[in-house]
Amino acid sequence: MQDTTSDIQKAISFVKAQMQAYDSSHDWQHIKRVWKLAKLIGRAEKANMRIVELAALLHDVGDHKFHEGEPDAASRILESFLNNLNLSQPEKMEILQIVENVSFSKKNKSGYHSLELEVVQDADRLDAIGAIGIARTFHFGGHKGFPICTPEAASRLAKPGEDNFRNGLSTIDHFFEKLLLLKDQMNTVTAREISEERHQFLEGYLDQFFKEWQVGG
Ligand code: NI
Repeated sequence: MQDTTSDIQKAISFVKAQMQAYDSSHDWQHIKRVWKLAKLIGRAEKANMRIVELAALLHDVGDHKFHEGEPDAASRILESFLNNLNLSQPEKMEILQIVENVSFSKKNKSGYHSLELEVVQDADRLDAIGAIGIARTFHFGGHKGFPICTPEAASRLAKPGEDNFRNGLSTIDHFFEKLLLLKDQMNTVTAREISEERHQFLEGYLDQFFKEWQVGG
């Protein structure tokens, strides 16, 4: 019988140490939320929970945003860790593939697909929207040195119309570039249901943001 509990404990300790180098938008608390969401979605979708839990815990290890110029960092660090667990070769490959393909920016170039990838991807995307998503976005924008908003961005974005964001110019642009798109990119029915409320909160937040920005003209 496979010893899932101790593998999960090992993954928790490993990931806590790994995430110390990351800012608070991608810290252990983010991983913990994604892990919990992945458990919720995975059970509802009848996924292989051993794979889901380990992949959710490990999904941001070696994230390219924090390892610029080292695209293979994720798989190198992860592979040597996975060798310490009670995993078959196919299970190991599955987890590596999920971590490799989970992120929004990679757009799954390899064509890999599984229910477990869908679940972890949805959990990660849910943590990018709603109240916590907003907090994480401004935190990450500050970490990268982006302004919250600029007069130019406000007049451009407050107008209705698609694709009027400018990638990387202000944090508020990132809502239009990514956050508002995530609801329609949920893979599972369970995540789609959870995303509704979080998406509405985002839209309400942006309305209020531009209303306050424009006070007094
Ligand atoms: Ni993540």
